Amino acid sequence: MADFPKTEELAGRRAVVTGAAGSIGRAIVAALLAKGAAVHALDRDADTLAQMAVRHGTLLQPHAVDLSDRRDTDRVLAALSSAMHEHCDILVNNAGISEVLPFADTDDATLDRLFAVNFDAAFRITRALVPALSCSDAPAVVNIASELALVGQRGYSAYTATKGAILAWSRALAVELAAQRIRVNAVCPGPIDTPMLAAEFRIADDPAAARAGEIRTVPIGRIGRPEDIAAVVAFLASPAAGFVTGATWTADGGKTAM
Ligand SMILES: NC(=O)c1ccc[n+]([C@@H]2O[C@H](COP(=O)([O-])OP(=O)(O)OC[C@H]3O[C@@H](n4cnc5c(N)ncnc54)[C@H](O)[C@@H]3O)[C@@H](O)[C@H]2O)c1
Repeated sequence: MADFPKTEELAGRRAVVTGAAGSIGRAIVAALLAKGAAVHALDRDADTLAQMAVRHGTLLQPHAVDLSDRRDTDRVLAALSSAMHEHCDILVNNAGISEVLPFADTDDATLDRLFAVNFDAAFRITRALVPALSCSDAPAVVNIASELALVGQRGYSAYTATKGAILAWSRALAVELAAQRIRVNAVCPGPIDTPMLAAEFRIADDPAAARAGEIRTVPIGRIGRPEDIAAVVAFLASPAAGFVTGATWTADGGKTAM
């Protein structure tokens, strides 16, 4: 992973990042740490979290949790509240799962699984952290949606619905929480070089052709990197973005501009 330049922009600030052990999550954590924030990292992948804690030291606090399980999520929220002394500056709702299935084969269990992680967890965690965010002088929530909240793609009906929900909810929250000075923005990544995207190519008849075809849909002419998303998240989370709220920020190499 590319290093982010070290600054003091977020020095002393406390952040919570979900899906922190994933490809984009690890980059977001690195970007926030590089700006001086302390990060509480939530993920179900306890091993990767433990490795991250060793690498980053005391500025990274790992919290293993299954965000599809409400009781487990509540357990971690209680632990977070005391660990953060009820003060949170930044929340990044990044955890997400995807499944590629024809609409007719998308059963209730799949729909519930996708909504539990991609939407319900973000909703519940944010609701729980609003009091702690209200204690910050520059609170920010960044929700990770997807280009597929903006355009349709075959096989993604349920995933798309969860990401559309994230966008609509982010706007509603931005309006409602403005009274508490909490900014809320959504980021829509395009295709990013991650196992999630690789899995999509793998199920194509010709994975290499699928990848080349995807690149042709991106005006900038490449697949994105996790750092491309992390840089946008770190900006939106920072006081420099103090007048940005309710925004849908695409980071997709221009894909949805076409
Ligand atoms: N990769 C892309 O091309 C792409 C494009 C658009 C949007 N996104 C979105 O970006 C976000 C990050 O995606 P990524 O590509 O880094 O995926 P990833 O699979 O690498 O990371 C997702 C992380 O979420 C964690 N997670 C999943 N279910 C969980 C659960 N029940 N409890 C706790 N943690 C859980 C995983 O362990 C993983 O570490 C997701 O919201 C995804 O929908 C990704």
